[in-house]
Formats: sequence, structure tokens, C-alpha cells
Amino acid sequence: KKNIQIAIDGPAGAGKSTIAKIVAEALDFTYIDTGAMYRAVTYKAMQQNIHLDDEAKLAEMLAASTIDLKPSPQGQLVFLDGHNVSADIRSNEVTSSVSQVAAHAKVRELLVAQQQKLAANGGVVMDGRDIATHVLKNAELKIFMSATVEERARRRFIDNQKRGIDSSLEKLQEEIALRDKKDSEREASPLIQAEDAIFLDTTALSIDDAAQAILKLAEEKM
Ligand code: C5P
Repeated sequence: KKNIQIAIDGPAGAGKSTIAKIVAEALDFTYIDTGAMYRAVTYKAMQQNIHLDDEAKLAEMLAASTIDLKPSPQGQLVFLDGHNVSADIRSNEVTSSVSQVAAHAKVRELLVAQQQKLAANGGVVMDGRDIATHVLKNAELKIFMSATVEERARRRFIDNQKRGIDSSLEKLQEEIALRDKKDSEREASPLIQAEDAIFLDTTALSIDDAAQAILKLAEEKM
């Protein structure tokens, strides 16, 4: 069996991370959540009162930071400069600001280099917005995962409830739509389906069915 690269892109709340984790586990591959890296940068910038439009300052801060992704039984943990920030990076404040930080080409350049290093030996499932189009252009399997915005908001709502985060369904839908718009319309590596990616609509699919569909495609490439 080959240690292939699997790239999964799509808008917020499409089920990428949940499904990517299941696929990675089934194949004994490493799961890499690139959104967590953009979130960690955003979190640190907010902590340090760096203006989120200040691309040079953000890049300088990032160059002097370490972001580590570590698998654990509770899912992937994110360490920023040695501290576990896994919960902090999921706050509403970070979520609503991350697209602003991710729009900067210099920030992306630094994170993309790290992501490419992590995936260099294959055996990875990486999810994000630009994995198939920029980070892993030669990935053996590319999936573009989406679902209606209503369904994606509903999933985030349930997710938040489980995490103990208060939210309103209507606000979540607005927030998701706005984040998608920012991610799709930015100049640097916008969210877009790669030409050679397979479209997977998860609106009416269970998590398990979506994972099985990807596993079947992966087996064909291995
Ligand atoms: O996947 P998640 O919702 O955690 O991603 C948070 C944000 O990080 C996205 O809305 C997007 O702005 C940014 N992102 C990105 N490129 C990636 C992954 C995430 O721009 N590869």
C-alpha cells in the first residue's frame, strides 16, 4: 500500500475535520488540520494586540513562533510556543477574525511551507481551504466537501453546544456565510474547488457514509 496524500478542502462546517479524522484513523495516516494553524496565529496576534491588518507584523510574529499539531485520544491538540491552545483557538473571537489573518500572503507562505514539510512523506489527510490548489498540488486524492449553509450552521450549533459555547443558529449562519465569502473572495489562495478534485456534498450524508465514500476512493489510489 502507498502512503498517499489526501487533500480535503471546503467551506466552514462542511464536516471536513470530523470526516478527515475518521479517514486518517482507518488508514493509519496522520491527520493535519491546517485551519488550526491559522487559528493559532490569530489567537496569538490578538493576545499580543497586533493589528490583524498588519501583514508584516503578523509575519514577523509567526516567524518567531512554533505551532505543533499533536494527535491525542481526544483528537488533535494544538500547541503554540509549547502551550496547549486547543480550546482557545475555537473561541468566537478567533473564529470571527481568522479569515482576516488568513488573507495575508506572507502569513500563508510561512504556514504553507510548514504544511508541505508535514506532508512530505505522505500518509496524510490534510484539510483546509487551499490544500488541493496550493499546498499539495500533487496529492493523489483531492476532495472538495460542501453542504448547504443551513446544514453547516446546524452542525456548528450542535458542535458548540457540546463544547459548552453559547450560540444562535441565525448568527452562526450569518457568520459562516461571511467567513465563506471572505475565504472565497480573497486574492491569496482563495477557497475554490481544484479542477482535479472530486465534489462531495455532505448535506444528506451521515459522517460515516462520507468517510466510507472517501475511503473507497483512497483504496483505488493506494
Ligand atoms: O477549518 P477552520 O474553520 O478551522 O479554518 C479557519 C479559517 O482558517 C478559515 O475560515 C480560513 O480563513 C483559514 N484557512 C485558510 N486556509 C486553510 C485552512 C484554513 O485560509 N488551508
